[in-house]
Amino acid sequence: MGKTTLIRHGRIITATDDYVADLLLQDGVVRAIGLQLEVGPDVTVVDASGLYVLPGGVDTHVHLENMIGPTVTCDTFASGTKAAAFGGTTTVVDFALQTAEDSVLGAIARAQALAEPQVNIDYSVHCIVTRVDTQVLADVRHAMRHEGVTSFKMFMAYPGVMMADDAAIFRMLRQVGGEGGMVALHAENGTVIELLIQEALAAGHASPRYHALTRPAILEGEATHRGIRLAELAEAQIYFVHVSSHQALKHIVTARDEGIPVFAETCPHYLLFDDSVYDNDDFETAKYVMTPPLRKPADQEHLWRALRYDDLQVIATDHCPFCMKEGHLGYRLQKQRGRHDFSLIPNGAPGIETRLTSLYDIGVTQGRLSLNRFVQLTSTTPAKLFGLFPKKGTIAVGSDADVVLFDPDATQTIHAHDLHSHCDYTLLEGRTLRGRVNKVWLRGELIVDGEQWLGREGMGRFVPRGTVQAF
Ligand code: URP
Ligand code: ZN
Ligand code: ZN
Repeated sequence: MGKTTLIRHGRIITATDDYVADLLLQDGVVRAIGLQLEVGPDVTVVDASGLYVLPGGVDTHVHLENMIGPTVTCDTFASGTKAAAFGGTTTVVDFALQTAEDSVLGAIARAQALAEPQVNIDYSVHCIVTRVDTQVLADVRHAMRHEGVTSFKMFMAYPGVMMADDAAIFRMLRQVGGEGGMVALHAENGTVIELLIQEALAAGHASPRYHALTRPAILEGEATHRGIRLAELAEAQIYFVHVSSHQALKHIVTARDEGIPVFAETCPHYLLFDDSVYDNDDFETAKYVMTPPLRKPADQEHLWRALRYDDLQVIATDHCPFCMKEGHLGYRLQKQRGRHDFSLIPNGAPGIETRLTSLYDIGVTQGRLSLNRFVQLTSTTPAKLFGLFPKKGTIAVGSDADVVLFDPDATQTIHAHDLHSHCDYTLLEGRTLRGRVNKVWLRGELIVDGEQWLGREGMGRFVPRGTVQAF
């Protein structure tokens, strides 16, 4: 018999409901929801008056211990999942990378072996597929039917590293879509970007700002349009990761209006920052070297509108941390690799711990998102699109007891040294945010209590996933 906890008088918020009630967590699941629930003396009672009771966050785009080109992201499964938990996220979907030597099934097994002893919260993986043949397609079918891995990521960018050609993407869409799964696509025209990078470097333009200037939004838009047409032909659903621009969004909106099952995420950094951060030749700007780059304030307005009207369905972090300082925690030569050549700066930024609070602050308190929509974007819909619902993504009788107590009135000032990631910076350094994660339960076990860590490495579990549940 597991631990039993009664959370009293909290304001329970799901994607659809908002009410004050008591919540009984028992044997890892939500056992009962009701008014004035009676419990015995052996039950731990937590008074949640004045607090929100949210389903644990589901972050379906994180890079923990991922090889990205020649370097590995600086968060391990242990540090990244601990940081996620402190931020109110109880499930992450990371990546398993099919390499030249590895099969799809081998890549999934390798990622699980790495994660299993370390994870502090529940997890799954999308498998990144870089080359496609009949064996790969057979392995993909096997992974979907027998391994609980139902989503696959493909890249239209990073030629020579992870880029797949259109025919490979089309074959995957047909295979995965036919089985009810999801292809997640990184949409940027990789070969034209590569040309622009080489031209910039030849002209002596080496500072981080050229990362943004060589990845214009029109090339995100072009690739997004191409991806949509491939999905349409394959009669498959498709999911666009890290949508940053109106150029991409306008194709997504049109396709959805045409009835094509197109889904998409954006990330907090595209809402929090704009491309004015690149207006200098300072190497500190390498902090903002992520892909796609930050866009214009007008793009942000389009992103907010799409979030409100459901043309964007998910906010995930794309947490892809690389340290700024050489030697930090032993992770040498990360962002500094590109000190004299922006194209060598590893792409990515941290954000796993600040997702809920930053979105609560700029989304909910500023009237851009309702509380229900906030939960839907950060927990419920990612769970549905990636086959985790209703085990994850909601508070309902029988769902996993992954629960966050959130204090809507507390404020916190963000500093990298207070966060739990291995990354030596946060994009939010010094920023004061309204809202704070107060307690977190994973399957009924209290793992975060204020600033206290009560979790254990290895307590997280691999969650076998089902097919897309968005229709
Ligand atoms: O800059 C980013 N996003 N790095 C991670 C790899 C990717 O494209 O998702
Ligand atoms: Zn990407
Ligand atoms: Zn990513």
